[in-house]
Amino acid sequence: MKDIKEDWNTMAAAYEEFGTAEDSYSYNIEWRCIRKLLPELKGKSVLDIGCGTGIFTFLLEVFEPERLVGIDLSEEMLAIAKKKADSQRSKAEFICGDAADIREKIDVQFDFIFSSTTTHYIKNLKAMFAGIADCLKEDGRCILSVIHPVYSAMYPVEHDGTFPEDDEWQVRYLDRSIRAYIQPWIEYNDACENHLSVSYHHLFGDYVNAAVSAGLKICGVHEPMPPENWKTEFPGRYESFVETPTYLIMELSK
Ligand SMILES: C[S@@+](CC[C@H](N)C(=O)[O-])C[C@H]1O[C@@H](n2cnc3c(N)ncnc32)[C@H](O)[C@@H]1O
Repeated sequence: MKDIKEDWNTMAAAYEEFGTAEDSYSYNIEWRCIRKLLPELKGKSVLDIGCGTGIFTFLLEVFEPERLVGIDLSEEMLAIAKKKADSQRSKAEFICGDAADIREKIDVQFDFIFSSTTTHYIKNLKAMFAGIADCLKEDGRCILSVIHPVYSAMYPVEHDGTFPEDDEWQVRYLDRSIRAYIQPWIEYNDACENHLSVSYHHLFGDYVNAAVSAGLKICGVHEPMPPENWKTEFPGRYESFVETPTYLIMELSK
């Protein structure tokens, strides 16, 4: 299997450009839902797992946590995050580490643990959730926003490192094979064309079972719709999002 860390090192600059665009899905759909679910963060400690270039880390900083830590596997994603932190005098600290076992790098507990669109790069979900349970305070909250299993079910199944045909983008839900594909967003970026990414595909039940086996309670599950105005402004995008949702957002506690 290709190296996921190297993938993200290669795509870092392109991802930052895509993720910070005004019409990004993550800001307009994912964040719009997440911000309504956030607990009180003022004076609290916050951990962002798979923080990438810090897009959500800095959105969370607006709520004035006392401590803010981002962890990610890719040095290049973190380099962008650190540069932004310096330029905006952020208090965020960024650590290079594996989301599959955050305990390797983190030995304190947090009030709030967050993660966005990272779990499909983690092979062992149960290990990741066990790490979250260990690093979450007894009265802490966790929000995990994941690529919706219906969406990752559409990622083409990997075949010997070759690029998939367009007609391989079809929902294949119960197949947990490794997926290999050009990220839909990267096709619009001249700086990083035709890059074959790899990821896993987890089923909805895999998330539920990983939470249960880590002793975490599922307090809510959300599947956000695109904004109403997209119906007229971007009807094609609106329709395809409703057909194949991109985000599944879970609220967890101990
Ligand atoms: C789609 S990006 C999301 C970044 C950020 N959360 C956001 O929403 O802007 C996925 C991130 O997961 C990171 N990642 C992949 N596998 C990882 C692992 N095993 N441990 C930590 N981070 C990982 C990648 O480096 C990348 O930054």
